[in-house]
Amino acid sequence: MEKSEVNPIWACRAFPAFPVALVAIGDGEGKNNIITVALVHMFSFNPPVLGIGISPARHSYEMLEASDDFSINIPSKDLVEEVLYCGQRSGRDVDKFEDCGFEPCPGKKIRSPVIDECAVNLECVKRQRIDAGDHVWYLGEVVHAEMAKEADRERSLMYWSGEFRVLGDVIRRR
Ligand SMILES: Cc1cc2nc3c(=O)[nH]c(=O)nc-3n(C[C@H](O)[C@H](O)[C@H](O)COP(=O)(O)O)c2cc1C
Repeated sequence: MEKSEVNPIWACRAFPAFPVALVAIGDGEGKNNIITVALVHMFSFNPPVLGIGISPARHSYEMLEASDDFSINIPSKDLVEEVLYCGQRSGRDVDKFEDCGFEPCPGKKIRSPVIDECAVNLECVKRQRIDAGDHVWYLGEVVHAEMAKEADRERSLMYWSGEFRVLGDVIRRR
């Protein structure tokens, strides 16, 4: 296969897409915020540890620095407009829970709220902070999780390069 050298920063953009999640953070005194993230990954299956990559430019970064926990909420494609809103507006200027009509439900094991309208709520306690470059990764152990019967991976959102997608066809099973 013939190839030419490309800028590593651009080459990393060749990934197909990343899952989208809504991260909710609360200060325990009524100030809650939501940030849309595509930098989300599983770092350990047992114990279950998930990581989120957050730019220090975000209001959520300031909140996460001050918080011991956060929730990762998996939205379905029906929430694409709310996902975009939470990914374009800052909690410095707006109340995203109120503007999106989301219910901030108290976490069962964490101080941060969960988003009732998402079929999957994962309550995470911060375990590690990794300064990776232009994003800081917070690795959180999932200490409590709730899932609705209607949770369906086929309806979850993926994002990359300005495009929201859903999963494609299954082309092989192992
Ligand atoms: C689909 C999508 C994915 C995003 N992924 C991330 C991400 O992984 N990390 C991040 O720091 N910002 C990400 N952003 C940008 C933030 O969501 C956006 O800057 C948001 O307005 C920050 O809100 P805040 O200032 O209330 O924290 C994403 C935006 C969109 C639309």
